[in-house]
Amino acid sequence: MSNQPIKITETVLRDGHQSLLATRMRISQMIPMLEQLDAVGYHSIEAWGGATFDSCLRFLDEDPWERLRTLKSYLKKTPIQMLLRGQNVLGYSHYADDFVKEFVHRSVDNGVGIIRIFDALNDVANMEVAMKAAKQAGAHVQGTIVYTISPYHSRETFVKTAKELVELGADSICIKDMAGLLVPYEASELVKIMKEQISVPLAIHTHYTSGMASMMYLKAIEAGVDIIDCALSPFSMASSQPATEAMIAAMEGQARECKIKKEQLYPIADYFRQVKKDIMEEFHLNPNIDIDTKVLSFQIPGGMLSNLMNQMKEQGMADKFPELIKEMPKVRAELGYPPLVTPTSQIVGSMAAFNVLLGRYKMVPKEVRDLARGKYGRTPAPVDPELLSVLTGGEPLIDHRPADDIAPQLENFRRELAEKGYQNAPMEDVLSYGLFPEVALKYFEAKGLL
Ligand code: CO
Repeated sequence: MSNQPIKITETVLRDGHQSLLATRMRISQMIPMLEQLDAVGYHSIEAWGGATFDSCLRFLDEDPWERLRTLKSYLKKTPIQMLLRGQNVLGYSHYADDFVKEFVHRSVDNGVGIIRIFDALNDVANMEVAMKAAKQAGAHVQGTIVYTISPYHSRETFVKTAKELVELGADSICIKDMAGLLVPYEASELVKIMKEQISVPLAIHTHYTSGMASMMYLKAIEAGVDIIDCALSPFSMASSQPATEAMIAAMEGQARECKIKKEQLYPIADYFRQVKKDIMEEFHLNPNIDIDTKVLSFQIPGGMLSNLMNQMKEQGMADKFPELIKEMPKVRAELGYPPLVTPTSQIVGSMAAFNVLLGRYKMVPKEVRDLARGKYGRTPAPVDPELLSVLTGGEPLIDHRPADDIAPQLENFRRELAEKGYQNAPMEDVLSYGLFPEVALKYFEAKGLL
């Protein structure tokens, strides 16, 4: 049993504002507090990856790479952590190996110290290339298990995946509970068995969606987890992480007391309280998302639940919402129980919506066909055999690593960019273009680069 002080990854600069305020925090709003954040003594500061890259280009008129370099210039002691979707990089479908490798190397060269790598299906084959590249680039590689509940997931399957990730070189393992599904006593058992079976440090990530996050952390800490993800209070709770100051306070005087003092964080939290107000005002956003324990019954992440509700309302179909909520778990089971995280959550969600609006599987979007064919990797369970031909549209199944079918991409992206008028673009801009072609072009155009 660990009696080491509990360590904290601070998420205010990434998941905190991604979860509560649609990823709208600007670098200019971060800079005034970066030196103080760096001095706190966090295990790491999550500040890049996830949706931040897209949001920089799309909404904030910022170059994500420039943001990373700026962050690094202030965060001199504390590693910058990023979230990477394995072979999806920061996008929604698989990229070629040359693209994944280059992206990882550029990320590390520009300032990332810890890369948390996950795959929506927990398919290790989709994480391998990114993990090896991160290792080679000299980063700390955090292999991730996406937590979900299904007849095909168990403590044993999660431990098995964790062991495979350690074999591939993971320096630590993260249990990523993106929907707040991990209940406190199960966390205790899962952490216990993980700590018995793997030798590298164990981190845990959750969202408050179902209202149990701090209780879950407490049991995970008692069971020996090494690192917890927390957000400074203004960017905590609701669909974000537990509050950093509160978790620190809860551990005071205990065997695993955190080395950070909560009082250190008060002025920093006060600063971000104002930032939160400013963002809410500028973008007309409301972060007061209710705790919703229904997620435990329906397995639908909280943010997604409210998105779907809005979409149904916009279509004048709000009355169909209860049906949709019942349809989601059915579709998920038929598609082989994928965990619901980007991009599988969107894929299952839109399929369920079409089923409710048009009749079951009358319309099957391309992404659903691809998921059923294996283009995103191996689903945890087989796709329902009776629906297989409907779901795949008769297209061939993919039984190997999907990215093996993707030819190198970097040179093509570079050529396309040159054809659009951006000659000799730096590799970082080629990568931005490869990930988000339209928004990147718009951004380059606005900067006079095209
Ligand atoms: Co998260």
